[in-house]
Amino acid sequence: TDLARIRNFSIVAHIDHGKSTLADRLIQATGTVADRDMKEQILDSMDIERERGITIKANTVRLDYTARDGQAYVLNLIDTPGHVDFAYEVSRSMRAVEGSLLVVDASQGVEAQTLANVYQALDAGHEIVPVLNKIDLPAAEPDRVKAQIEDVIGLDASDAVLISAKSGLGIPDVLEAIVTRLPPPKGDREAPLKAMLVDSWYDAYLGVVVMIRVMDGVIRKGDRIRMMQTGAVYAVDRLAVLRPQMVDWPELGPGEIGVLTASIKQVRDTRVGDTITHERRPADAPLPGFKPAQPVVFCGLFPVDAADFEDLRDAIEKLALNDASFTFEMETSAALGFGFRCGFLGLLHLEVVRDRLEREYGLDLITTAPSVVYRLHMKDGTVRDLHNPADMPDPTHIDHIEEPRIKATIMVPDEYLGDVLKLCQDRRGIQLNLTYAGSRAMVEYDLPLNEVVFDFYDRLKSVTKGYASFDYHITGYREDRLVKMQILVNGEPVDALSMMVHRDRAETRGRAMVEKLKELIPRHMFQIPIQAAIGGKVIARETLSALRKDVTAKCYGGDATRKRKLLEKQKAGKKRMRQFGKVDIPQEAFISALKMD
Ligand code: GTP
Repeated sequence: TDLARIRNFSIVAHIDHGKSTLADRLIQATGTVADRDMKEQILDSMDIERERGITIKANTVRLDYTARDGQAYVLNLIDTPGHVDFAYEVSRSMRAVEGSLLVVDASQGVEAQTLANVYQALDAGHEIVPVLNKIDLPAAEPDRVKAQIEDVIGLDASDAVLISAKSGLGIPDVLEAIVTRLPPPKGDREAPLKAMLVDSWYDAYLGVVVMIRVMDGVIRKGDRIRMMQTGAVYAVDRLAVLRPQMVDWPELGPGEIGVLTASIKQVRDTRVGDTITHERRPADAPLPGFKPAQPVVFCGLFPVDAADFEDLRDAIEKLALNDASFTFEMETSAALGFGFRCGFLGLLHLEVVRDRLEREYGLDLITTAPSVVYRLHMKDGTVRDLHNPADMPDPTHIDHIEEPRIKATIMVPDEYLGDVLKLCQDRRGIQLNLTYAGSRAMVEYDLPLNEVVFDFYDRLKSVTKGYASFDYHITGYREDRLVKMQILVNGEPVDALSMMVHRDRAETRGRAMVEKLKELIPRHMFQIPIQAAIGGKVIARETLSALRKDVTAKCYGGDATRKRKLLEKQKAGKKRMRQFGKVDIPQEAFISALKMD
């Protein structure tokens, strides 16, 4: 296809502002999917979503559109994941296209969570067309929202397209704006092949499917290709475009987007951002900016029932096939038995993986405290990475400890600024910058990643009622006074609850932790001390008093059914508990104890 007749774009929107509805309308309006098949299509894409789990590409589609100038255009819409954990994936997909539609709900206005993505689109050099959706709603205020887009984002919104994705109003204007206001791609058909690996996923029938954006050269079925970062060589079995299901395609040239299969066994063998070239006549340099996704948050996953260990192994191996950014290795814990130490891109990633293991594979899991990667400088001059506080060596051998720091950017309406500053301050943050855009504040903080992985994002959302946007990147490592804090229940250390903390925060954390555990651990027939300690020194202590009488006593003699029911309920509760020495600790205690504040 002639470059001048191609437009590649993504849609940037806050959740629920209508991104999926608009994508469906564009598919329909261009006749890509016949009206009567539309429902089936949507169902299909839901299957893909379920299969894919996190980086959903259900809205990636190639559209044919004949514009008002009478010319036929190819429009490629790429879907992008919206969460900060996947910032790197978002930035890669943004680099695969030249423009974005910024969809804003005209009854809600600009909301915070889209801002990070808009800035990524601007970073990637995109042309941006503002689209105001839901103008059918009586509460729609297009003029106010236009002004807001100009104030907050600094984009000219005077030519914003007004639409109702629901009724279809304005959809032809969106298609026209894509053609007239977004630039065509650039590229050299005669140059050696250079294609960006935008995304990849595992398909039960096809194996690994790789989405590519061709920059230079031409790729065809049967070509032998090389992944420039991993060095692996494959033959292209199948080349296709998405409409939105796969349709075989003879070749893809500069500016085009499509998918290929090449008997690649696992998603792990494909790296988002890698450059694909021909084995013969390769490009001399890969595309710039490649970095492999590095797990930054680690935690242990253990089966509640030790007998489920093999099932957990199977489930983890299956998930890992489809998720290159998730790492795992076996771990044994004195208290929890056999399990896995797993690495994630961030907390949401962790939660998604844990949820899938529990829901799709029916496993009951204990998750240990999330931890970042600490750098230990030993007295003998060696440097070690610490992924797990349980592996902390004798502190007398350590010279100093470094932890990862981030630069966080938070955008928030003025009225919540005070709470946000307090939250950052409480998390050992150092304020770098504070500016205003209209009634919105933009604040930048230098923060320890360790203080963010716990529940920072949840806290931020709750203190700002969801109106804050948050984005971060790791800036480097810095030395600080970090210690390992242990929790002892009835004198036994519970390794799953040990964590690295800043020395100045240890007492507060320790106190909060033992207080919480006192509430969460059921009383036993004996008294149970619950302590937090650094080295041999106890810094906080609570005592759980002994149970005085049989809980079933209040049921009197007569009511046998009720008594049995109560005992059954207790038994069911037991199943989700772990024994530590003589003490049963419910699984919820691990999760709750780690969620602070
Ligand atoms: P996520 O998939 O959760 O990110 O949301 P989204 O941005 O894709 O939004 P989606 O298209 O699912 O739309 C969210 C809701 O808004 C749905 O209930 C839609 O039916 C509704 N909606 C979308 N467009 C319009 C519109 O133009 N007018 C009205 N009244 N409702 C709309």
